[in-house]
Amino acid sequence: MREQKLSDILLRWYDRNARDLPWRLSVNHRITGLLPDPYAVWLSEIMLQQTTVATVSKYFSRFMQRWPTIADLAGAKRDDIMATWAGLGYYARARNLHRCAQAVMERHAGQFPSDAPSLRALPGIGPYTAAAISAIAFDKPEAVVDGNVERVMARMHAIETPLPGAKPILRNLAAALTPTVRPGDYAQAVMDLGATVCRPTKPHCPACPWSSNCLAKAVGTQESLPKSLPKAAKPVRHGLAYIGRRSDGALLLERRPEDALLGGMLGWPGNGWSDQEQNREPCSARWSLVHGEVKHTFTHFRLRMQVKTALIPDGVKPDVGEFVAIHKFDPLALPTVMRKAYDLAIADPTFRA
Ligand code: ADE
Repeated sequence: MREQKLSDILLRWYDRNARDLPWRLSVNHRITGLLPDPYAVWLSEIMLQQTTVATVSKYFSRFMQRWPTIADLAGAKRDDIMATWAGLGYYARARNLHRCAQAVMERHAGQFPSDAPSLRALPGIGPYTAAAISAIAFDKPEAVVDGNVERVMARMHAIETPLPGAKPILRNLAAALTPTVRPGDYAQAVMDLGATVCRPTKPHCPACPWSSNCLAKAVGTQESLPKSLPKAAKPVRHGLAYIGRRSDGALLLERRPEDALLGGMLGWPGNGWSDQEQNREPCSARWSLVHGEVKHTFTHFRLRMQVKTALIPDGVKPDVGEFVAIHKFDPLALPTVMRKAYDLAIADPTFRA
């Protein structure tokens, strides 16, 4: 079937089935030719990298309420952005968010450029995000290829080559289908199709507008595609966090160096999670081990972290970090692994007392 016909079929499906997401315009707005705010599109696309739509929706609304324009975000304090991002993970995205907002203000007078190469020159914007912003916010015919789109293409064309080797093939197939009419809606339509119908497991083929054109469906291999090479098991690393409290309730926290894992975020002092590193107490106190351990999975390793707590005697100056008054302490401003450590500590009756 001709490419144009396939994209038309999908656009008609999208007009009836588009997910109602906070960064999208409604169908009624879209048919008037209105395009979404590039700032909202950029923010949502950065958040959606490695993170689900359900999680992103809450964070997106929080950011838009607090910083409704790119000028607001560029003028925000970095630490406030990091605290509001806490829990979303992949914190380099938050650091680059601030840098990118400032670059758009300085280099482009506060207006996002519309073409993918200029977008790619901005901090934190890679090929996928540049294509997504150019297509969705400016209706440019860019092929937008995420994991959902790869899956849809692999099934439509019955591609047996495993990922990641199949990426260039799938990208070419996606590009060949991308229309010049409503490319922004089309990009989101393929992603929605992948997320809601052509799902990783149990694809709901009866609801698919492309099912009669799907080669995998024709031979019954849709559930086994795309194939992927087995992933190597993640190594386990061990860590230790020190949660110290003063008699007035203040907690000892440390801002992590920019180039470290969780860079720029607040956390508990501790070792750097490499098994060679020595444990160094942040100050002398009677540290005691909390029962249990924190488990957390990062991109390249799994962490098992023990937690020590202490009441830090008045007058002791810590070697690292700073005391944060208890009324200024917000566990939700911590990255998830640090919040898990805090939850473990406060579940311990000796620390709570
Ligand atoms: N995943 C990433 N960006 C998306 C978008 N704009 N719509 C749906 N899913 C997405």
